[in-house]
Amino acid sequence: MTDVPLRLAVIIGSTREGRVGDRIARWFVAQAGRRSEVEVDLIDLAEFTFPTGYPARATPQMSAFAAEIDRADAFVVVTPEYNHSFPASLKQAIDFAYDEWHAKPVGFVSYGCRSAGQHAVDQLRTVFTALHAVTVRDGVGVDLLDGGDDLDDRLAGDTPVQAAQVLLDQLCWWGRALRDGRAAHPYVS
Ligand SMILES: Cc1cc2nc3c(=O)[nH]c(=O)nc-3n(C[C@H](O)[C@H](O)[C@H](O)COP(=O)(O)O)c2cc1C
Repeated sequence: MTDVPLRLAVIIGSTREGRVGDRIARWFVAQAGRRSEVEVDLIDLAEFTFPTGYPARATPQMSAFAAEIDRADAFVVVTPEYNHSFPASLKQAIDFAYDEWHAKPVGFVSYGCRSAGQHAVDQLRTVFTALHAVTVRDGVGVDLLDGGDDLDDRLAGDTPVQAAQVLLDQLCWWGRALRDGRAAHPYVS
């Protein structure tokens, strides 16, 4: 067991103009920043220029994304719910990596109107299982219609802050266990 901090990649799943996903992701990065056992990288899918069709050879931007996934020990996917699923921008990016996801934990911060993004998370668990990743049980769910107008005020409340710490507890446990496991034995896929 090493004391080297876990590299946690927080992925902003929405690339929509006027999105709220970046605000929620930055709030989560601040929560993770309270812990000395993680080093956080923010991966913003809006900063990549991906091809419209899946090309025969990876483009430099696809390779850059896969390299960021490779570098990380653990992930938090910040996802909205679109029509009872997660956005196409997120699925496109997830599919640009494969081995790089293997034997690593993934947690979720989800949001939506009324469902708090739970349908999106349910479907992402299926996708990440196919990628040999491990999804952690507890996450953060934000109902955008619940409570006052100020999202930042609501995110500062006890419920989301505690949920973020529970998610980070589980993610760090899995992150350390799987990092040690990968170092001891090559993953079998
Ligand atoms: C195309 C589309 C479909 C949506 N479908 C749902 C839905 O099924 N359930 C839900 O709770 N919210 C739904 N919403 C509301 C979004 O969760 C909300 O607009 C959220 O802010 C989107 O995340 P973003 O702003 O980071 O892109 C939908 C929004 C869009 C744009």
